[in-house]
Amino acid sequence: MAIERVGVIGGGLMGSGIAEVCARAGSEVVVHEIDAAAAESALGRVEASLGKAVDRGKLDATQREEILARITVATDLDRQSDRDLIIEAATESEELKREIFGSLDRIAPNDAILASNTSSIPITRLAAATSRPSQVVGLHFFNPVPVMALVELVTTVKTADETTKEVRSYAESLGKTVILAKDRAGFVVNMLLVPYMLAAIRMYEAGVASAEDIDTGMRLGANHPMGPLELTDFVGLDTTKFVADVLFDEFKEPLYASPPLLTRMVEAGLHGRKTGEGFYQY
Ligand code: 3HC
Repeated sequence: MAIERVGVIGGGLMGSGIAEVCARAGSEVVVHEIDAAAAESALGRVEASLGKAVDRGKLDATQREEILARITVATDLDRQSDRDLIIEAATESEELKREIFGSLDRIAPNDAILASNTSSIPITRLAAATSRPSQVVGLHFFNPVPVMALVELVTTVKTADETTKEVRSYAESLGKTVILAKDRAGFVVNMLLVPYMLAAIRMYEAGVASAEDIDTGMRLGANHPMGPLELTDFVGLDTTKFVADVLFDEFKEPLYASPPLLTRMVEAGLHGRKTGEGFYQY
């Protein structure tokens, strides 16, 4: 089966980015959102990102219009009934995602593949909410989706080889490099990245160096595009803590335990860039 018609559930930061890269690669995309206001915001995010791509000389104005014409935002889940691949990018709530997977299983064609962009919820549990676990995978993109070259393809013990092959080939057609991971908390990247971010927060909390010097250290000393505290602000302190908690829950290793400073900052509403303040002010 060639994947041509794609559905994306949730048009937030990740979902709108996923819709954009799929439409850029030529797919016709239907994004599901909960109401008209959310649908408008989702389209606004895609338009802003495409505008940035035009400004940077990555696309011309005609291409931008063609890409936008391939994206529809709908508030009726039944619009997913003719999709070949549906990528769920809703809020990180297991209950919500299981409900979505159950509904998609009823609505989507029998041969459609269901994928989740979750960074923390076991794919096996989402697959168990469907009658087609052999056609369920994790497809984990990175923020900002149009810029980041990687996709993690997560398979469960039930995923069919044919499903893995089709999704891999589709993700590669988006211009992404695919790595395969088993269904363990954190997959590959977050299992390595999150303990590094937590270690930087512990270092800052212990007063070893200032936030600026920790970040400059890793930017110039290890050639990272962002230092670890800047990156935590970018990802969101709440999201970082959420993923750390999931990793801790799965492995019970102290290196995944949220440092008290991170916990307190999240409780205080300092979630990073999106709230205007984290380790830095925005
Ligand atoms: N469309 C197409 N291209 C775009 C674009 C868009 N909307 N926005 C930016 N670009 C391109 C630019 O043209 C530029 O390309 P060039 O190098 O060919 O000129 C490149 O992307 C970089 O863009 P900018 O110059 O605007 O920005 P910076 O150089 O400051 O880089 C950054 C910004 C890409 C965010 C960089 O700081 C970075 O890579 N940071 C780390 C991001 C990261 O680690 N993300 C992963 C987070 S973890 C995660 O997502 C997992 C989750 O589960 C927690």
